[in-house]
Amino acid sequence: MKKLIAGNWKMNGSLAANEALVQAMLAGIGSPKADVALCAPAPYLSQLQLLLNGSPIAWGSQDVSAHEQGAFTGEVSAAMLRDFACRYAIVGHSERRQYHGETDAVVAEKAQRALAAGITPIVCVGETLAEREAGVTEEVVKRQLAAVIHLVGHCITEIVVAYEPVWAIGTGKTATPEQAQAVHAVLRAQLKAATPHPERIQILYGGSMNAANAATLLAQPDIDGGLIGGASLKAPDFLQIVAAANAQ
Ligand code: PGA
Repeated sequence: MKKLIAGNWKMNGSLAANEALVQAMLAGIGSPKADVALCAPAPYLSQLQLLLNGSPIAWGSQDVSAHEQGAFTGEVSAAMLRDFACRYAIVGHSERRQYHGETDAVVAEKAQRALAAGITPIVCVGETLAEREAGVTEEVVKRQLAAVIHLVGHCITEIVVAYEPVWAIGTGKTATPEQAQAVHAVLRAQLKAATPHPERIQILYGGSMNAANAATLLAQPDIDGGLIGGASLKAPDFLQIVAAANAQ
């Protein structure tokens, strides 16, 4: 299966900084074997469309509304993302779950809205440090993914899953390849119960993935790519991760 390297800029960027970053990425991207995408803050999606249209880099959002349209001040609908040709929408990032109270059910609705608009949801799951130490990692990620399978099980092969242990995000504390692989295998087995083709679903690892550790993580049998935060804000680092994915 093709690997996917997706950048998550989070709430960073400006018109000028994005332009410089994207031009540097385009200059070095070549013809990647892996799928590559950048997920930007909503106001910059039209800029990404202009810069990336026709290039090997796709673009996407970091969230999408669980509602179709109407009186939901501040929300951005899947149809609006479609207008800007977004290929992906991250849903259920731990920062959304933690700071914006997103429940498993809401995350599943967001995934459903994205799919209905022809956008691939990148569904994030992951345990906190307390949950890992309590030995409930498997239970937590399975519960998070089960909500999505329950709602969109009929088209589950259209989603991307991202395993992001909360304790590894932005901390420089990466999960070991063995730790990550163990959870990815659990997720793959769970998907297998929902589809005869679980191998078609890309399961990304995220959490302090960088130019130095990408190759060993991506070499694991069930790690099909990366969701990259900090390192996606530096063109050379991001390009090195893409190169590591191309080399698999
Ligand atoms: P990080 O973020 O690479 O900066 O740890 C990953 C993410 O939150 O998607």
